[in-house]
Amino acid sequence: MDRLRNKIRDIPDFPKPGIVFKDITPLIKDPATLRLTVHQLLQPFLCRNITAVAGMEARGFIFGSLVAWELGLPFVPLRKPGKLPYEVESVSYDLEYGSATLEAHIDAFNAGDRILLIDDLLATGGTAKASCDLVEKLGATVEACAFVVELDFLQGRKQLGNYEIHSLIHF
Ligand code: PRP
Ligand code: ADE
Repeated sequence: MDRLRNKIRDIPDFPKPGIVFKDITPLIKDPATLRLTVHQLLQPFLCRNITAVAGMEARGFIFGSLVAWELGLPFVPLRKPGKLPYEVESVSYDLEYGSATLEAHIDAFNAGDRILLIDDLLATGGTAKASCDLVEKLGATVEACAFVVELDFLQGRKQLGNYEIHSLIHF
């Protein structure tokens, strides 16, 4: 995991004073590390009955779509407001540095779908909790959530109650 950790860069005071931003662009710029990350993310789910992968805009699209590709499963984008062209369901939430809304098409999931949620980072857990709520509002079940990075000091896990959570790197 040190190989992954060494490719995550700290940017102090971005996007606001006091926030240390975990920049994953050095990691995704390195093909071998990106491949290792994707394989580590999907490893716990190889023998599970996942039916689709969902990723949160924007950085969740990068890892989520690669995990879906590797598992041979559909990828569902959970998007910021006003981006999806068809009828949507939406959920609003608070972030470490603001507030936000996520949307998904009303036909994004099938009844009985078991969803693996993927994002780059778990901070306060607002995004992940809203994503779980959105998936369930649309009639699917959250099988687990997986992140590249978890900021332990923000205790995002507490927001997620009994959902299964996997994180590759902890700060
Ligand atoms: C970041 C990150 C997670 C979220 C985590 O996304 O990619 O989705 O924050 O924070 P939380 O646990 O406090 O909710 P951001 O909203 O900055 O969007 P981006 O991926 O478009 O940069
Ligand atoms: N999303 C929420 N908090 C973050 C942080 N500190 N670094 C990168 N993405 C984030």
